[in-house]
Amino acid sequence: MSLRARLLAAFAYALLVVIVALEVPLASNLDSRVRAEVEADSATQAQVVAASVTDQLSLPARLNRVSAQASQRLGGRVFIVDGRGRLLADSSGLETKGSIFASESHPPLLRALNGEIAQGTHEPDTDELSTAVPIVRGGRTIGALEVEQSLDAVNREVREDVLALVAIGLLALALGLGVAWILAGSIARPLHSLAAAARRMAGGDLDARAPTTGSSEQVDVATAFNEMADRLGSVLESQRAFVADASHQLRTPLTGLRLRLEAAAAKSPGDAQSDLEAADRETERLSQVIDDLLDLASSEEPSEGGSASLERAAADAESRWRDPADDSGRRLQLCEAPDVAVRAGPRDLALILDNLIENAIKYSPRGSTIRIEWAADDCCASLRVLSGGDPLGEEERERAFERFYRGGSSRRKPGTGLGLPVVAALARRAGGSAEIGNRDEGGVVAQVSLPVAEGDFADS
Ligand SMILES: Nc1ncnc2c1ncn2[C@@H]1O[C@H](COP(=O)(O)OP(=O)(O)O)[C@@H](O)[C@H]1O
Ligand SMILES: [Mg+2]
Repeated sequence: MSLRARLLAAFAYALLVVIVALEVPLASNLDSRVRAEVEADSATQAQVVAASVTDQLSLPARLNRVSAQASQRLGGRVFIVDGRGRLLADSSGLETKGSIFASESHPPLLRALNGEIAQGTHEPDTDELSTAVPIVRGGRTIGALEVEQSLDAVNREVREDVLALVAIGLLALALGLGVAWILAGSIARPLHSLAAAARRMAGGDLDARAPTTGSSEQVDVATAFNEMADRLGSVLESQRAFVADASHQLRTPLTGLRLRLEAAAAKSPGDAQSDLEAADRETERLSQVIDDLLDLASSEEPSEGGSASLERAAADAESRWRDPADDSGRRLQLCEAPDVAVRAGPRDLALILDNLIENAIKYSPRGSTIRIEWAADDCCASLRVLSGGDPLGEEERERAFERFYRGGSSRRKPGTGLGLPVVAALARRAGGSAEIGNRDEGGVVAQVSLPVAEGDFADS
């Protein structure tokens, strides 16, 4: 689960708890409070009207007028009955006057005739509120007044208020989640760039550094990472420089030693001859190791850039290696693909090809053909050297690029185990990669992938 998803879930949970805890009691209170207010209001108004008709129960025209005015003001029907429950006035004029009106169907009226203020809703239609109050004169109940009001408008208003509360809740939730989204982004961004820098470093780019932005903790982590990268870079650089210096220092005395051995062999009698020749071969091997170590050290320096033609590099390598290949009984062959420009220095390309062709000659059977091929798609070019011979074992394939590793096929063949590591380092510093594997049709393929260069060849 990503950081953003976690943060959103946490915010959503907290916001929902707060919104529900605040809004549910508010919404349920709202309904009962509005009803209580409406009931109290109706009772007061009804009492005011009832008081105004105390002395006028015997004046039907006056009662009709008062009930009509009250009905308009209160927004409902108004009934007035005498002490025995007979209808004296009905604001709507629908009921027959003089009939017994205060009956079981009007419980509040019956209770009002008993001197109470009574309120109730008409079952099943609960949207009507009946309020009945006694009409009192001289401490005696001489009649009652009932107001029937529709609660439709009130209920609608309550529903609208509840909907408004829900909408406010949703808006708060959306705003909260928006804030969480932005917050998660600001936390995750420095982490992403830190991961990208770590990945670039793992890919060999020792100059990769994490941007020191964000909160103080994030800046702290990025700074610590960058310090580690600085330290690692300088350790690796001093290691590389040491290998280069040591190899360089060893070269001169070794050349001297070889010359002296050769001179001694020329002068010495038969017995010492073979030992001196063996010593000469050892020094030659030593000087090969030193040359390869120097190549490796320089291939790990930052690249000077540039671009080169694969066709030309392959043709040059073919002419360099034609005679050695012929002498050892192998044939070199170039493919006829269209030329490709790659982002790698011409010297690097030559060194890559030298190492791959040397291996191919060394490890393929006599009489076989070694093919040099290249191809390209939109971004990547591949350069392959195909040779015959036994397929590589799993261990050999996996370890071929380790320094000083020499596979089973290398027994009794000269070599240092540094050729493929040099190839891999050169490919890596050009932004590419190297691999070795078996061909389906038999034999071995060593391949280098390199980025395609845009524009012209720098070496043409
Ligand atoms: N073309 C090839 N055919 C078969 N095996 C190969 C080939 N190229 C490389 N290898 C294997 O990979 C190993 C490492 O190669 P490399 O680093 O060039 O060392 P070296 O050539 O000195 O043995 C070799 O020892 C060999 O086992
Ligand atoms: Mg080699």
